[in-house]
Amino acid sequence: MELKDETFRNFRDFIYEKSGIYIPDTKKYFIENRLGKRIEENKLASFDDYLYMLKYNNNISELNVMFERITTNETFFFRELQQLEVLVGHIIPKIKAELKPATLRIWSSASSTGEEPYTIAMMLMENPKTAGIKFEILASDLSESVLQKARAANYGQYSIRNVPQNYLKKYFKQLEGTNYALNTEVRSKVKFVQINLLDASKMRTVRDMDVVLCRNVLIYFDKKAKISVVTSIYESLKNGGHFLIGMAESLHDVTRAFKPAVIDKTVVYQKA
Ligand SMILES: C[S@@+](CC[C@H](N)C(=O)[O-])C[C@H]1O[C@@H](n2cnc3c(N)ncnc32)[C@H](O)[C@@H]1O
Repeated sequence: MELKDETFRNFRDFIYEKSGIYIPDTKKYFIENRLGKRIEENKLASFDDYLYMLKYNNNISELNVMFERITTNETFFFRELQQLEVLVGHIIPKIKAELKPATLRIWSSASSTGEEPYTIAMMLMENPKTAGIKFEILASDLSESVLQKARAANYGQYSIRNVPQNYLKKYFKQLEGTNYALNTEVRSKVKFVQINLLDASKMRTVRDMDVVLCRNVLIYFDKKAKISVVTSIYESLKNGGHFLIGMAESLHDVTRAFKPAVIDKTVVYQKA
């Protein structure tokens, strides 16, 4: 199905306005490929019809499907482990000793299908420095369909490929075939809600966090959207709270509000 240049620009602006994700001109094919099929599935005649449906039919579930098609939900357990080890082995024991929170509050703000927050929950339960600590993890994403998968917590080979054997044995149950179900204890530590990082008023509902992670999503945003997200996250943290972005990402040119520190070759940001 053909996507006219003008319709592409309208689509791009609509996606940017709703999600902060910026699709450059060079990626017109991306919209064409990812959404072309959806137009056929909806038995529509053109991209213009689909855009009209999304804009004016107040169809939230179709908007969610569209987000699901255009976002990259790539994630897996124990991703960027070096950084998570710094979080669980250094940052959290320090918070525990200095701030002594009754319940430690962590927010995985682009959690995708849940592997990131569940990994942190398991690591906190396993590490002798944090075992026994009371914690709760809020996990959120733009896409309702990835959140449904996160709540169901059944994972295939790709997701679990880096899970150490002792964790696999202790926290997962093998289902028929190659799928694994995460146990209820770990699942009970994480609460999933839908939050668009660009929705400043919804972001304001999250407060008093000790740690916020926003990993491997800022790369899809332009500078203006990044500033909006990072400002909201700053407000959601307690004074002295910590902020982690993806290991290949940077806050250079986005904000100077956080104090960066390097621990075990990993950059962590702290609300001053
Ligand atoms: C590549 S995944 C990263 C998952 C995990 N943080 C990790 O590092 O493995 C990026 C996630 O960001 C979500 N996302 C994209 N735009 C978003 C927005 N505006 N608000 C909230 N989540 C968003 C996508 O739906 C996707 O699940």
